[in-house]
Amino acid sequence: MRTEDDSWDIVSSVGATALGVAALRAGESRRTDALFHDPYAELLVSAVGSASWTRLSQGDVGRIDQSTVRSYGVLGDLLVARTCYFDDYLEAAAAAGLRQIIIVAAGLDARAYRLDWPAGTTVFELDQPKVLQFKAAALADRKPAADRREVPVDLRDDWPAALRGNGFDPAVPTAWLVEGLLRYLPADAQDRLLTHIAALSAPGSRVAINTTPGQLSPTMQEQEDGRDRLLATLDIDLDVDALWYPAEGRSDPVHWFTEQGWTVVRADPAAVLTDRGRDVPEEVAAEMRDHLLMTATRGDSTP
Ligand SMILES: C[S@@+](CC[C@H](N)C(=O)[O-])C[C@H]1O[C@@H](n2cnc3c(N)ncnc32)[C@H](O)[C@@H]1O
Repeated sequence: MRTEDDSWDIVSSVGATALGVAALRAGESRRTDALFHDPYAELLVSAVGSASWTRLSQGDVGRIDQSTVRSYGVLGDLLVARTCYFDDYLEAAAAAGLRQIIIVAAGLDARAYRLDWPAGTTVFELDQPKVLQFKAAALADRKPAADRREVPVDLRDDWPAALRGNGFDPAVPTAWLVEGLLRYLPADAQDRLLTHIAALSAPGSRVAINTTPGQLSPTMQEQEDGRDRLLATLDIDLDVDALWYPAEGRSDPVHWFTEQGWTVVRADPAAVLTDRGRDVPEEVAAEMRDHLLMTATRGDSTP
């Protein structure tokens, strides 16, 4: 097992990346043409009590140069695409009768509260203990729309025992969501995570994943640099790149699940937006294609 030093809370290390994505969800939710509404995003970021993070979640970023606006905008577009795509994925899983949902690395994901879950649905949320504690405290007076169960774990360790201990049933088909996580895991921990997911998935189970699978392209690097400049402007001390593990030696989730006999479907992040009526210039659409969005379904038999 890991030591306490390897864990983090919501304002430090990888925990703070959950604030970054929640701030982007808050930004989309404020738009008059928003493609989704997450009323919990701004509330959760503000609950940290940091003026800088609150300003970011409220879109109050002062005067910033146009290249930063554009770079950060592409990251925002990606976040909006993945939110819509994963919302649809989970709603389709629920409509197909799946009642066991697992949000891996849940961070400040509020889907257990904001999606319209059928009766009898259980949503398990896995993340570091202090991240889950923060969210539970911030949303203490809100009622989840499903049976929400917190599973405090380090995903680099042996987490299935903790999941089972919270009532997870591997004999029942499950919908897994792995959003915004893989590059924060070393390559071997990513493989262990995928192996655990496959081993715990009854026939009919599904998984949805996003990641940046390869080396950062120059345009992706520009987007990351834009985000870093913006955070620096707000005096937010968060070096996201430093938290990413290398691409080398990392399995491609598309191949990984295909080899396990699952049926994999990839999505084009730009098309997710244009299908919903949002304009995406072609050069931005091309940049977004460095990013992987996928779902996979386990058939009736393993290979
Ligand atoms: C970028 S945030 C994404 C959160 C959420 N999935 C979303 O998209 O809003 C990354 C999350 O992964 C969690 N995480 C990363 N590595 C982890 C680990 N080894 N164990 C538990 N949680 C981890 C962090 O605590 C953080 O909440």
